[in-house]
Amino acid sequence: MARAFKQAIAEVDAVLFVTPEYNRSIPGALKNAIDWASRPWGKNSFARKPSAVIGTSPGSIGTAVAQQQLRGVLCFCNSPLMNTMEAYLQFKPGLIDEDGNVTNPSTAEFLTNYMKELHVFIERVLTVLPRES
Ligand SMILES: Cc1cc2nc3c(=O)[nH]c(=O)nc-3n(C[C@H](O)[C@H](O)[C@H](O)COP(=O)(O)O)c2cc1C
Repeated sequence: MARAFKQAIAEVDAVLFVTPEYNRSIPGALKNAIDWASRPWGKNSFARKPSAVIGTSPGSIGTAVAQQQLRGVLCFCNSPLMNTMEAYLQFKPGLIDEDGNVTNPSTAEFLTNYMKELHVFIERVLTVLPRES
């Protein structure tokens, strides 16, 4: 499974981490997955791989603490990380409907802008750090 995960990362231009917050940190399963993909030594899947972090939780700080911790991990993994925009989303019932649509117009607009910014960031990084084919 770890090999398949590493292969999946190798096949994409970038990774967008979407996380909840568990006890002011990231879920253990996410940390475990990152740890596996970062090894063996010298074959760290995140090295030079652009990434960004986003998350949502019921709390009003919307995963801010978890995201800061995840940023620290990705920094050590040598992943070029989008600094801004940041996105801390407080999840309220009905925010996303059954078809996956964001029901709050200002949140939808914010997320659209986030994805545009992420696209520009990925293109910029890949210009100087092209993917190995
Ligand atoms: C063990 C545990 C700890 C949590 N700790 C936090 C927390 O520190 N801050 C927060 O905003 N939400 C916290 N939550 C709520 C989660 O962020 C999340 O919204 C909720 O668990 C639903 O996501 P899930 O189905 O992936 O667990 C916690 C949930 C669990 C199960």
